[in-house]
Amino acid sequence: MSKALALLGGKPIRTRPFTSWPIFGRPEERGLLRVLRSGKWGKLAGSEVSTFENRFATMHGCRHGVGVVNGTVSLRIALMAAGIRAEDEVIVPCYTFLSTASAVVEANAVPIFADIDLETFNLDPRSVEAVLTPRTKALIPVHFAGQPADMRSLMDIAKKHNLVVIEDAAHAHGASTRNRPAGSLGHVASFSFQSSKNLTCGEGGLLITNDETMAEACRSIHNCGRIPSGAWYEHHVISGNYRLGEFQGAILNCQLERLESQTKTRDRNGQHLASRIAQLPGIHPQKRPPDCTRHSYHLFMLRVDGRAFGAPRAAVIKALQAEGVPCSGGYVLSLHHQPLFQKKAFHPFLPIASTKQNYAKTRCPNSDLICREQCVWLEQSLLLGSRADMDDIGRAFEKIHENREGLNAWFNNQPM
Ligand SMILES: Cc1ncc(COP(=O)(O)O)c(C=O)c1O
Repeated sequence: MSKALALLGGKPIRTRPFTSWPIFGRPEERGLLRVLRSGKWGKLAGSEVSTFENRFATMHGCRHGVGVVNGTVSLRIALMAAGIRAEDEVIVPCYTFLSTASAVVEANAVPIFADIDLETFNLDPRSVEAVLTPRTKALIPVHFAGQPADMRSLMDIAKKHNLVVIEDAAHAHGASTRNRPAGSLGHVASFSFQSSKNLTCGEGGLLITNDETMAEACRSIHNCGRIPSGAWYEHHVISGNYRLGEFQGAILNCQLERLESQTKTRDRNGQHLASRIAQLPGIHPQKRPPDCTRHSYHLFMLRVDGRAFGAPRAAVIKALQAEGVPCSGGYVLSLHHQPLFQKKAFHPFLPIASTKQNYAKTRCPNSDLICREQCVWLEQSLLLGSRADMDDIGRAFEKIHENREGLNAWFNNQPM
């Protein structure tokens, strides 16, 4: 194949753009106009959000859905509804977006970080067991990148230690394990519909559960502490207005129609790309456990072992970008290394979380390794293209590998 790398003046593999995101059309336009003209723009007056709540919950075999303003607030509401109190410890992965852990701080509890498995990039049950204490009250597994976490092992641990399990399913719309949807496997699950997500309305979130008491608590907390039998200005618990709006509800109802076929496409393409690039030395796509019946590929993730590949991750990313493949290295730090946690900059609200944990002592070597030198992310919309698109990405990796010596020489001459 391979001519000179695009980074070094050669012709890029890819000049056409990949699929852009979001995808929308006439149904979304009609839905927005319908809400606009109805004059019912808030959840309590209209029916778009409640329709979506029911549809999304039912799709997961859950009886209850509660639409909220984003997937950060939904995590905090789940923690509050689960009865998590000051000084309670909540185990979270150290490789995740900020919200999984900051929601715990905001709920006035203490996030405890556990490491991920180096091959699946999901919470490692052995690491969870290592950080359990008598104060542990909950666990938040993230289905990272859209691949369901090892819920069988995690639920066993939870049962043994009487923990509430809150699934952070922000990446996992449409994913499943043993044909059971991600989000239906714990006690309550939180989804995000923020712009980048596989199901989006710009900003939004949702809680689903089969637990009646949990659902009632979530509904009350997201609606200013109201209760069904109470008067409008009667407020029963600390809470806020976290209700999702009707315009978002209308968009979500349309996007949901697209989700099934988009998820199938992403999963098919993701598996094809993974099997192609896994042939290269030092390239390790996220390992798919046999239990995973559907990966939603919010991200296509891989590790580049620079020594085995012949060029470091940073150089590979530059080369891929030059070949026309948008990508990044993802998180630069494990969460516990973020200044927020190192400095425990939680005040003024939360003196308890601030005093209880010394994050300088947290050890998560797998997460540190992939942040520092190995991880590469490709975003979900790339996987919505054709098989030929995947082959272009595969060819870009192969071309870079064939030209690794030149790439290394270039990289070593770059100013630091
Ligand atoms: C794993 C994870 N959890 C929670 C969130 C928070 O969702 P939101 O941005 O809707 O608040 C995100 C968002 O990126 C996420 O990636």
